[in-house]
Amino acid sequence: MNPVLPFSAAHREPPFQDWMHAVQTHIEATLARLLPPETAIPARLHQAMRYVSLGGGKRVRPLLAFAAGELSGGRTESLEIVACAVELIHVYSLVHDDLPCMDDDVLRRGRPTCHVEFDEPTALLVGDSLQSLAFELLSRAELGLPERQLAMINWLARASGSCGMAGGQAIDLDAVGHHLNQPELELMHALKTGALIRAAVMLGALCGNPLTPEENQALDRFAKRAGLLFQVIDDILDCTASTATLGKTAGKDAAADKPTYVSLMGLERAREFATDLRAQALQSLAPFGERSQRLIELTDFITHRTF
Ligand code: IPE
Ligand code: IPE
Ligand code: MG
Ligand code: MG
Ligand code: MG
Repeated sequence: MNPVLPFSAAHREPPFQDWMHAVQTHIEATLARLLPPETAIPARLHQAMRYVSLGGGKRVRPLLAFAAGELSGGRTESLEIVACAVELIHVYSLVHDDLPCMDDDVLRRGRPTCHVEFDEPTALLVGDSLQSLAFELLSRAELGLPERQLAMINWLARASGSCGMAGGQAIDLDAVGHHLNQPELELMHALKTGALIRAAVMLGALCGNPLTPEENQALDRFAKRAGLLFQVIDDILDCTASTATLGKTAGKDAAADKPTYVSLMGLERAREFATDLRAQALQSLAPFGERSQRLIELTDFITHRTF
């Protein structure tokens, strides 16, 4: 057990900010260990994989996996692997999302996007390779849960594919210039962003003691609400925060005529909707009592984040 990540049920120490920082630091070090070294052939591809994966990002999905693992009593040695697997799928989705054929963005996590810093073919292959690495990690013996790993791979595969993140991205691209009603927008967000957030929570929980069917249902309800909340806040920040603060180009959604919660309901109602989603997410955690403290704190972090 890593001493910086205590999972004692009796003491919810350290304070949230310290816990978050410890998990972020731990994830950075674990990714640095698990990614191929930049000198390994093909060196340029490995440099690009490390460039996009290290040194940036809030690591919200790993934080959710660790928080859910704290709830179920998971071990750090397992959690760090599942958290990195989900983060790698997320990073791959960002690299492809920024490509000229998709959102055509030049800035990500405060730095030039992968296809700008390297080139488009490299960005494509970085995405492919990060995705494969994610699944390879879930199949590794060092994860230490052989009877659960098939279920984990199944969860992450469904969350990433055409009925999950990639499907949501397809709907997003099709929707440019079109009006989506609220159920249509909710489906798009649930797939493109919600599915991976849901997977992060469920994979984290799978690292620990089995939950009852009722607990699983409650946790899944939380994860779905938190995933939608995350993308609603992303929509709001796109039109309220600056490029410097976001580390990615602000105002892209309106410029590209994307349907978002802000374009659907206006800024004020989108904010109210986020407040409702926060309350629903927290309500879903009620059965867990203090075991869900980190998830509660993360819900507030997601709601009030500024980038
Ligand atoms: C941005 O995700 C893309 C969405 C799915 C909304 P994050 O806001 O988690 O990006 P990083 O990982 O912190 O850069
Ligand atoms: C991205 O949504 C969702 C995925 C990467 C799967 P956005 O296109 O809104 O994300 P940002 O705003 O570029 O980070
Ligand atoms: Mg996009
Ligand atoms: Mg984008
Ligand atoms: Mg966005």
